[in-house]
Amino acid sequence: MRETLTEAALRARLNAHAPYSKFLVGAAIEDANGQVHTGCNIENATYGLTLCAERVAVFKAISEGARGFTRIAIAADTDVLTPPCGACRQILWEFAGDVEITLVNLHGQSETLQLATLFPRAFDASFL
Ligand code: THU
Repeated sequence: MRETLTEAALRARLNAHAPYSKFLVGAAIEDANGQVHTGCNIENATYGLTLCAERVAVFKAISEGARGFTRIAIAADTDVLTPPCGACRQILWEFAGDVEITLVNLHGQSETLQLATLFPRAFDASFL
């Protein structure tokens, strides 16, 4: 049976390179063709060069020619479900618009919401 999007995010999380924060995050984003692209957070000794799981997933997908994202799942080991950071909200808005987001933790708890509820009044190309 095909892996669900949340399962893909949980699996990607295990690849995280997070020796500094020890906070492992996974993301899985589905494109218009139903293809799933995963990402994990990748930290750096300089700290500031750290990339979040969501942006890794989006940039991997974009670089492979994928477009038209329909939903993303984000997995982290927190009781209060981990939402995407501000920078990732901006990047998701650019490439996925008001995309469906599912937050999931290791206990199988999840919540699904739209990006617009997390990121109201976004700045985007419509202002340029
Ligand atoms: N992180 C993500 O990958 N995604 C989020 O939504 C929140 C934060 C990462 C960045 C850093 O490696 C670690 O979690 C702690 O902030």
